[in-house]
Amino acid sequence: MTTTALRDRLIVGLDVSSRAEAEAIVAELGDAVSTYKIGYQLVFAGGLPLVEELARAGKHVFLDMKLLDIANTVEKGIESITRLGAAMTTIHAYPHAMAAAAKAAEGSNLLILAVTVLTSLDEADLAASGYAGGIADLVAARAVQARDAGIGGLVASAAEAAALRRLIGPGMALVTPGIRPAGSAAGDQKRIATPAEALRDGASHLVVARPIIAAPDRRQAALAILAEMAAA
Ligand code: C5P
Repeated sequence: MTTTALRDRLIVGLDVSSRAEAEAIVAELGDAVSTYKIGYQLVFAGGLPLVEELARAGKHVFLDMKLLDIANTVEKGIESITRLGAAMTTIHAYPHAMAAAAKAAEGSNLLILAVTVLTSLDEADLAASGYAGGIADLVAARAVQARDAGIGGLVASAAEAAALRRLIGPGMALVTPGIRPAGSAAGDQKRIATPAEALRDGASHLVVARPIIAAPDRRQAALAILAEMAAA
C-alpha cells in the first residue's frame, strides 16, 4: 500500500475545546495527517467552521455527531452535513435513521457510518435500557441492517472488527477507535488494539486521539503510528 493510501486510513481525533487549539494541532501535524475527526467537544466550542476550513485545505473531515431523531430530521440534518463538505459522519444504527441518512447522502461524497452499540455499554447497560438480547447479537443484527440499508460503514471496537468483517464482507468501511501503539497508555479505553492488530482484523480506518494529541511530539507520534500500520 502507498504511504498516501495508508495515511488516509488514519483519523486523528481533534478532542480539544477550542478552534485555536485544533488549528495549532493541524498545523503541527502538517502533511503527516490527512483526516481529522471533530466531535461534540469541539463542535459545541465553536469548532464547526473547521469542517469547511479543513475541507478547503484538502483534508478529510469525519464529523462525529452520532445523530438519532425522527427520519425527516435525520434526513435534513445529513443533507446539511453534505453541504459542509464533511467526508464522513455518524448516526446510531436504528433502521429508520439509517434509511433516512442513506437517502440524504445519495449522490454526495459523504460516507455514513453507523454506530451499532456504543462500545462503552456492557450487557447490564443494555438490559437497563430495555433490550432483551445480548450485545453481540444486537451488534450483528444492526451491522447487517446497516449493510442492507446502503450505509457505507460501521464504527466498532477493534475487538469486534474481525467478526464484523466476516459478517458484512469486504465492501463497507470499518472504523475502529481504542487504538494504542504498542506500549502506550490505555487511558479510559477498556478494549484496545495496536494499529497493526486492528488492520489485520479488517479495520479500514483507525481513530486515534490521545496517543497523538497528548504526545510531546505529535507529528513524530503520528508518523510512528503510520509506521506501525505500514508494518501490518
Ligand atoms: O483518545 P482516544 O484515542 O481514546 O480517542 C478515541 C476517539 O474515538 C475519541 O474521540 C472517542 O470519543 C472516540 N470513540 C471511542 N470509542 C467509541 C466511539 C468513538 O473512543 N466506541
